[in-house]
Amino acid sequence: MGNKNIGLNLDGLDFSRECLEIYTQELQRGQQRLESGQEEFTGWYRLPFDYDRTELQRILEAAEEIRKKCTVFVVIGIGGSYLGTRAAVEWLEPAAKAGFPKICFAGQNISSRYHRSLLKELRDKDICLCVISKSGTTAEPSIAFGILKEFLIEKYGREEAGNRIYVITDREKGVLREETNREGYKSFVVPDDIGGRYSVLSAVGLLPIAAAGIDVKRMLEGAAAEAGRVSSGENGSELPKDPGMCYAAARNELYKRGKIIEVFEAYEPSLASFIEWLKQLFGESEGKCGKGIFPAGLQFSTDLHSMGQFLQEGNPVVFETILNVEDPGEDLIIPEGAGAALAGKGMSEVNRAALQGVTAAHRKAGISVIRIDLPKADPFVFGSAVWFFERACALSAYLLGVTPFDQPGVEQYKAEMRSVLEKE
Ligand code: PA5
Repeated sequence: MGNKNIGLNLDGLDFSRECLEIYTQELQRGQQRLESGQEEFTGWYRLPFDYDRTELQRILEAAEEIRKKCTVFVVIGIGGSYLGTRAAVEWLEPAAKAGFPKICFAGQNISSRYHRSLLKELRDKDICLCVISKSGTTAEPSIAFGILKEFLIEKYGREEAGNRIYVITDREKGVLREETNREGYKSFVVPDDIGGRYSVLSAVGLLPIAAAGIDVKRMLEGAAAEAGRVSSGENGSELPKDPGMCYAAARNELYKRGKIIEVFEAYEPSLASFIEWLKQLFGESEGKCGKGIFPAGLQFSTDLHSMGQFLQEGNPVVFETILNVEDPGEDLIIPEGAGAALAGKGMSEVNRAALQGVTAAHRKAGISVIRIDLPKADPFVFGSAVWFFERACALSAYLLGVTPFDQPGVEQYKAEMRSVLEKE
């Protein structure tokens, strides 16, 4: 269908792709671990090929039902149960079909001000809720669900409220599953072998993204195409050709050279939540055992007028990864009033000049800049990008010598918070 692939540009790094060949064996071992299906929590790797088609059909039917029932669909969840959806909804907004509900988010913080204001906004809207929690016990979504369920019951009565609640949680375990079974809510499963931050292509992301009017089948096709490039060996499935492996190896090489912070940068504000998703993916997968590259995010050109200074001349512990959307969509021509140097040009052309100029300036200053080319804002590219980064992140964590799929630190804070609340 002539879909362009995700591209990786490593020009201007102090080392060549060939230098990365020292990582080949380790990367191939990592690749085998992912492909084997034996490693815990690697279900996401095969998801684009093995997705349960009956479940997908149920998701599409539920999205259609939600479209008919409400104008606002409130997605309740935090971390991996929410960021992927937010990333898709914001980035793919131009690709969403008309007539689908607006998506609002709840339970991603414990702010009474945020939730009060949300309740105010929802007062005269027709709403449905989607609560997503693998464990079913996380404090933030539990609080938000409690509040919004009460709101729904007041608005529609208990029976109709029940028809407007959609749940995505563990197949068997947890209080949310118990309540779902008791109350008969429509529900979907977070697969056992997929952790939160790797779950966007499961029901966790597919239901709310489909409910936003985004073509989730195309998303899965994009992920399958990216996964197919790897499994068919189209990339050579080895360094230096395989972009995912090269990216994983380059990050580790930079880390060894003292670059301990990776700044993800985008020149399109619609990628802000995609960057948040990347921060979670890399931060939770790699930040353990006293190791890891700290993932940060900046919005350009906005942050060039603040953090641009630090990048250009500050502590050289940083490397940059640009998320370059090659075709940003409809352009806007700059009028006369903007001055002779800019008038008549397209905004996208100027944005591209900013990317090129900044990259050149930063490379001249000795900063390592990686560029990842994302062809455009569409569901296919989104699916490809999700799978590309998930695999690259897992391989990168293996190179670092850490387990990519657990998050003991997050579990620790959750336990401490519970014990503080119990004491109060
Ligand atoms: O990636 C992870 O595992 C975490 O970020 C979780 O997704 C997050 O803590 C939410 O957990 P749960 O889905 O159990 O509510």
